[in-house]
Amino acid sequence: MAKDYIIETMFTEEELDAKIRELGARISNDYKDKDMHIVCILRGAAVFMAELIKRIDNHNLDIDFMSVSSYGHDTVSSGDIKILKDLDEPIEGKDVLIVEDIIDTGRTLAKLVALLKTRNPKSVEICTLLDKPERREADVDVKYVGFKIPDKFVVGFGIDYAQKHRGLPYIGAVKFKD
Ligand code: IMP
Ligand code: MG
Repeated sequence: MAKDYIIETMFTEEELDAKIRELGARISNDYKDKDMHIVCILRGAAVFMAELIKRIDNHNLDIDFMSVSSYGHDTVSSGDIKILKDLDEPIEGKDVLIVEDIIDTGRTLAKLVALLKTRNPKSVEICTLLDKPERREADVDVKYVGFKIPDKFVVGFGIDYAQKHRGLPYIGAVKFKD
């Protein structure tokens, strides 16, 4: 039987909204006059991306979606990432901003950035809502981070636990009962 758990609020709707406005302002400034192409990593980043683009002041902003799964997540070997859904548009010459929900080991993104760079974009940067720096294994340069969090399993605002809790308007930490 699945273990019982509760969800403890980590970031409220108001805190998320304030942080996303802050990120949006920084990104608006950095991408002024650029041919900005947002790559949203499905499925977890969908809610964050939807909120973030409303706070970015760039009328040329375009969005595309990608779904990837990482091989060898719990092994030491470094396999390639498997593309479950590729981008619809070419990214050559574009200023790509990858939007991710949470960076854990960094393995997925490190491989994804390497893959996207082979397609000759003008630039590639990463924006993540959450970052668990303690867990990092792969070297990945993250320009925009919403919140750095401790090594806890979180849900809500698009992020799931066994495909559940994505619709929560806040971010919560899963706490298992003994
Ligand atoms: P990694 O950085 O390659 O280890 O993988 C990051 C991915 O693992 C994220 O995009 C999430 O899909 C998932 N993930 C990592 N930490 C959590 C968490 O606390 N809750 C839910 N999913 C998580
Ligand atoms: Mg993800």
